[in-house]
Amino acid sequence: MRKLQNILITGGAGFIGSNFIHYLFGQSSAEGNLFNDANFTGKIVNVDCLTYAGNLESLADIEAKFGSGVAEADRRYFFEKVDICDRPQIERIFKQYDIDTVIHFAAESHVDRSILGPEAFMKTNVMGTFTLLDVARNYWKKEDGSLRDDVLFHHISTDEVYGSLGETGYFREDTPYDPRSPYSSSKASSDHVVMAYFHTYGLPITLSNCTNNYGPYQFPEKLLPLMISNIRDGKNLPVYGKGDNIRDWIYVEDHNRAVWLIVNKGVTGEKYNIGGENEWQNIKLLHKVIELTAAQTGKKVEDVEKTITYVKDRPGHDKRYAIDCTKIKTQLGWERKMTFEEGLLETVKWYLKNSEWINNILNGSYKQWVEKNYANR
Ligand code: NAD
Ligand code: TYD
Repeated sequence: MRKLQNILITGGAGFIGSNFIHYLFGQSSAEGNLFNDANFTGKIVNVDCLTYAGNLESLADIEAKFGSGVAEADRRYFFEKVDICDRPQIERIFKQYDIDTVIHFAAESHVDRSILGPEAFMKTNVMGTFTLLDVARNYWKKEDGSLRDDVLFHHISTDEVYGSLGETGYFREDTPYDPRSPYSSSKASSDHVVMAYFHTYGLPITLSNCTNNYGPYQFPEKLLPLMISNIRDGKNLPVYGKGDNIRDWIYVEDHNRAVWLIVNKGVTGEKYNIGGENEWQNIKLLHKVIELTAAQTGKKVEDVEKTITYVKDRPGHDKRYAIDCTKIKTQLGWERKMTFEEGLLETVKWYLKNSEWINNILNGSYKQWVEKNYANR
């Protein structure tokens, strides 16, 4: 039986991680809420070194309600500004909080940045994952040298490890890895190290590979928040190549519900694919986003359409991703809850409503990065 008490979440200040913490504390919806579970008496420890993508503003409500904003005895949430590659600090955190579960989101996550500067991806995604695994292996060792079986290391990964699909077919859990970008190759490497720790040392692990997430708190260099904020600001909408690449989109809470289900019920040593079964060509998705954002902002669709700008394609741009998620559905009973129509509208409204959150990013150090690296934004 997994203990699931003192849970180390890495990358909790990023997009999916911050949504996951909201989910666990019942702040995004009633489900997932650990406080509805009388057996939960533990802590959530968020370890994040706050790269450009980490943003504590996304967790201000959690900090106030469950962290430093409450009396020490009631405190359930702890933030540690630590790099996952920093072994002494990670060892200290395991010991200090007596960690029994790791849910590992932290990563360098943007494909375009991995093309411009791959080194950080290798450091964080490969060496950082290795460091966490190795510290867990040592901390969870029993006196006889065997590993505890009430612990778990869950690794979050991407469908991009499987490579690129043609017009047909789906990635399954047994699809051979064929990563093509520095980002996906670093994630593929980390997946292999996770599996190696299971096979070699018996470290209790689970692993999940998910398609493109959308929803609140996503850094505005990724397609959807970028397009929504550019439409709001009357800026160009940069489409790579012909805009005919295909991605499968899933609402972030549907992904996070799957992660929590795997952490609770997934079979140790197994990997699970998570998908939206919701494929969109980039350009068709952009038309949809324009329609919704224009309606919310009172702009004319025809005017916004004129700002679509076809730009140089991403080198090695993967054509199509699509996931077969039969395994998690049939073996763990997972289902998506959010329809794309509803989720996309909610997302557009969220970015328009939370303009301070997004403006703080757009006007911070990210501004210089965009000016240096992108001519068309
Ligand atoms: P993100 O870039 O929004 O957030 C990453 C977080 O990790 C940030 O808070 C950042 O500060 C932190 N971080 C980065 N390097 C770190 C380090 N060395 N030490 C400590 N913290 C560090 O990423 P995301 O979109 O939330 O993705 C989370 C995870 O999900 C990643 O592992 C990613 O590969 C995976 N994933 C993402 C998607 C997607 O569509 N976004 C899809 C499938 C899988
Ligand atoms: P992105 O959000 O970067 O996710 P990923 O590359 O991990 O799938 O991009 C989603 C798709 O949108 C991808 O095919 C690249 C494309 N894209 C654009 O056409 N223009 C943009 O400005 C961005 C950021 C992405």
